[in-house]
Amino acid sequence: MSGTKGMLDGKSALVTGAGSGIGRATALAFAREGAWVAAADQTLEAAQKTVAAIEAQGGQAVAIACDVTDEEQVQAMVAAAVAAFGGLDCAFNNAGIAPHQVNATGVLAADLAEASWQRLLDVNLTGVWRCLRHEVAQMRKQGGGAIVNTASVAGLRGLPGAAGYVVGKHGVVGLTKAAAVDHAAENIRINAVCPGYIETPMTEESKRRRGDAIIARTALGRFGMPEEIAEAVVWLCSERASFVTGSNWTVDGGYSAL
Ligand code: NAI
Repeated sequence: MSGTKGMLDGKSALVTGAGSGIGRATALAFAREGAWVAAADQTLEAAQKTVAAIEAQGGQAVAIACDVTDEEQVQAMVAAAVAAFGGLDCAFNNAGIAPHQVNATGVLAADLAEASWQRLLDVNLTGVWRCLRHEVAQMRKQGGGAIVNTASVAGLRGLPGAAGYVVGKHGVVGLTKAAAVDHAAENIRINAVCPGYIETPMTEESKRRRGDAIIARTALGRFGMPEEIAEAVVWLCSERASFVTGSNWTVDGGYSAL
């Protein structure tokens, strides 16, 4: 990586959910653009695999075990990233779960078990807020930074049988706007990315069950790749996005345009 000019040269970046899918692809993209990467996941071995992939491409990274539903672990995660690289310039709050991971696939809004509702919101919305609080606390000490939160097209519209997920992702879009307004004066930019259907372990089941229908509903006629989300996140974290805050970046192959 030395000798090339990257969009994030000399920056340190934290990624949650970095052990798989969009998080792993973004951690790799951050590193390719010259950032030091703190790769966090609730599964340490998965984060370690991401670190190994970054090192194999000549980058520098550390793996951190962190469950975003645990306040102490989140605090320790940010502290570990800062300890490793001397600061925190960029953060990608991406860890999330889908309805099928709480046995709620296809469950109608009024029939959702309270435990499923709570779990979806705890990981997908409160988890983002917990991370953001500690990231902002560090960034304000440094005089600024850039944060990207993973929402979804489900943060912009309803999807059938996915109420808890839809509510959490709408919450991420709202949190992104609220926090962007609150922390703009501290030189912290906060944006959201809204992926459409992306090929990751999370969507394996829906691809099997109704992949053709999803593809037919997507203007570009295919699932997206995690690397295509990473492109947007890298740009949002870079100086090139210096006037962008409080926005949602839809990267969905035209899904929400139809
Ligand atoms: P994935 O399942 O491949 O990866 C998610 C990662 O998050 C896993 O490594 C998992 O261990 C980690 N994770 C889950 N719960 C966690 C917790 N409590 N604490 C820490 N880490 C945790 O999923 P994918 O597809 O990469 O999703 C990433 C994000 O993108 C999620 O927020 C998801 O809701 C969102 N998204 C995904 C879309 C897709 O089509 N794949 C579409 C729109 C949004």
